[in-house]
Amino acid sequence: MTHSFDLTTLEQQGINRSAQSGLLRDIFNRADIDSPQLFMSRSAIAENYQNLKAALPRVDIHYAIKPNNHGVILDEVHRLGGNFDICSAGEIDMVLRTGVDPSTLVHSHPIKSIPEFDYAVSNGIEIFVVDNAEEVKKLHRYPERKLKVMIRYRISTNSMAVVNLQYKFGCQVTEVLSLAREIEKSGHEFYGLCFHIGSQCLYSENYVLAIKAAHSLIHQLDECGFNTRLLDIGGGFPVEYVEPAPDIHEFCQPIATALDEHIRPGIKVISEPGRFIAASPVTLVCTILGKAERDGKCWYYLDDGLYSTFSGILFDHCQYPVITNKTGEHRLSVLSGPTCDSFDVMYDGLMIPEHNVGDRMVFCSTGAYCAVSGSNFNALKQASYQIID
Ligand SMILES: Cc1ncc(COP(=O)(O)O)c(C=O)c1O
Repeated sequence: MTHSFDLTTLEQQGINRSAQSGLLRDIFNRADIDSPQLFMSRSAIAENYQNLKAALPRVDIHYAIKPNNHGVILDEVHRLGGNFDICSAGEIDMVLRTGVDPSTLVHSHPIKSIPEFDYAVSNGIEIFVVDNAEEVKKLHRYPERKLKVMIRYRISTNSMAVVNLQYKFGCQVTEVLSLAREIEKSGHEFYGLCFHIGSQCLYSENYVLAIKAAHSLIHQLDECGFNTRLLDIGGGFPVEYVEPAPDIHEFCQPIATALDEHIRPGIKVISEPGRFIAASPVTLVCTILGKAERDGKCWYYLDDGLYSTFSGILFDHCQYPVITNKTGEHRLSVLSGPTCDSFDVMYDGLMIPEHNVGDRMVFCSTGAYCAVSGSNFNALKQASYQIID
C-alpha cells in the first residue's frame, strides 16, 4: 500500500487523484495559505453527486450530512436537486437553511432522545427510522401527526465494510413484521424499509443481498396489508484513499440491476451517501512546525493532527494519501500532530524525501469524517476552509 506520492510523479503518471495536480502544484506555490487549511472544490462536489446519480438513475440522493456539514456542500446538493438525511436538531437547522422542504427529509437516527424527537416533529420532519419496539413507543407522543416510519434492518454478509454500521443498529429481518404492526398501533404509518451496509463498503454484493432481503420482506408485508412506499439503501459508497476503490459506475451496476429485478417500480428508492459526496472535494494543506531525529527516524511535527482533521484516522479507520513536492532520497519518517500528546501521531514508518521546518505537506480526500470529529484539545488552531471554485 502506497501512502505517499510526490507531485512530479503524480503529474507524469497522470494519476487521477481527487485533487487534480494543477490544484496541488498551486497549493505548494501559493504564499497566501493560512495553514492548516482545507481547500474545498465546489465542482468536485457536483461531479461526485452527478456520477452517483448517473450510476444509480432510479435512486434519489439524500446526502447524509454527518461526514461534512459545510454550507457549501449543502447548498450544492440542494442546487443539484438532492435532498438530505439528518440525525439531530443541529443537522435539521443546517439543512433547513438551504430552503429544503422539511417533510421530504429523512431523519435516519434509529434512537432519538425525546427532546431531539420533539424538535424534529415540531420542525415539520415526517419521515423517521426505528429499529426496535422501545423507539416505536415514543411515537405515541405525537397523536396529532401522521408520521411516516421506516424500519431499519440488518443482514449477514461474508465481507465487511471498513466501518461496520450493522453493529449498533438494525433489527433482524424476522422482527420487521412485528415492528410494522407496532407502528400501525401507534397511529402512524409504516412507510418503508432501510439498511446501511457499512461505510466505505467495497463490495456491491452486500447491497444486492440487502435488496434481496427487502424483496422478501416487502412480499411478507404485502400479505399482511402493509404498503411499502420507500426503500432507503443507505450510504457506504467507496472512495479512493491510499488504496484504490472501484469505479462508481461498475460498483453500482449490480445494485441498479438488483433494484430493477427485486423492487417493484411503485416503490421509491433513495440512498444516503455521505463519504462519496464529501471526501474527495477536500484537500488538506499542513505546514511542518518542527523536526527531530528520534530512533533513526525523521520526526515531523505538523500544524494539524489526530485531535483535529486527522481524527478520521481513528474514528473512520482511514489513511489519507500524502503528497509532497520534494524529491531525493527517501527516509524513514514519522508525521505527528501539534499537540502535547504522544498519541498524536498520524503516520509512522512513511518513506518520504527529507523536508524542512516551514515546508508544506498535502493530504487528499480529507472531506469526510475528518474535521467534524476533531476536538479543541490543547486549544490549538484548527484548519479553516477555503472554497476554490
Ligand atoms: C444512517 C446513515 N446514513 C448514511 C450514512 C453515510 O454513510 P457513508 O458516509 O458511508 O455514505 C451514515 C454514516 O454513518 C449513517 O449512519
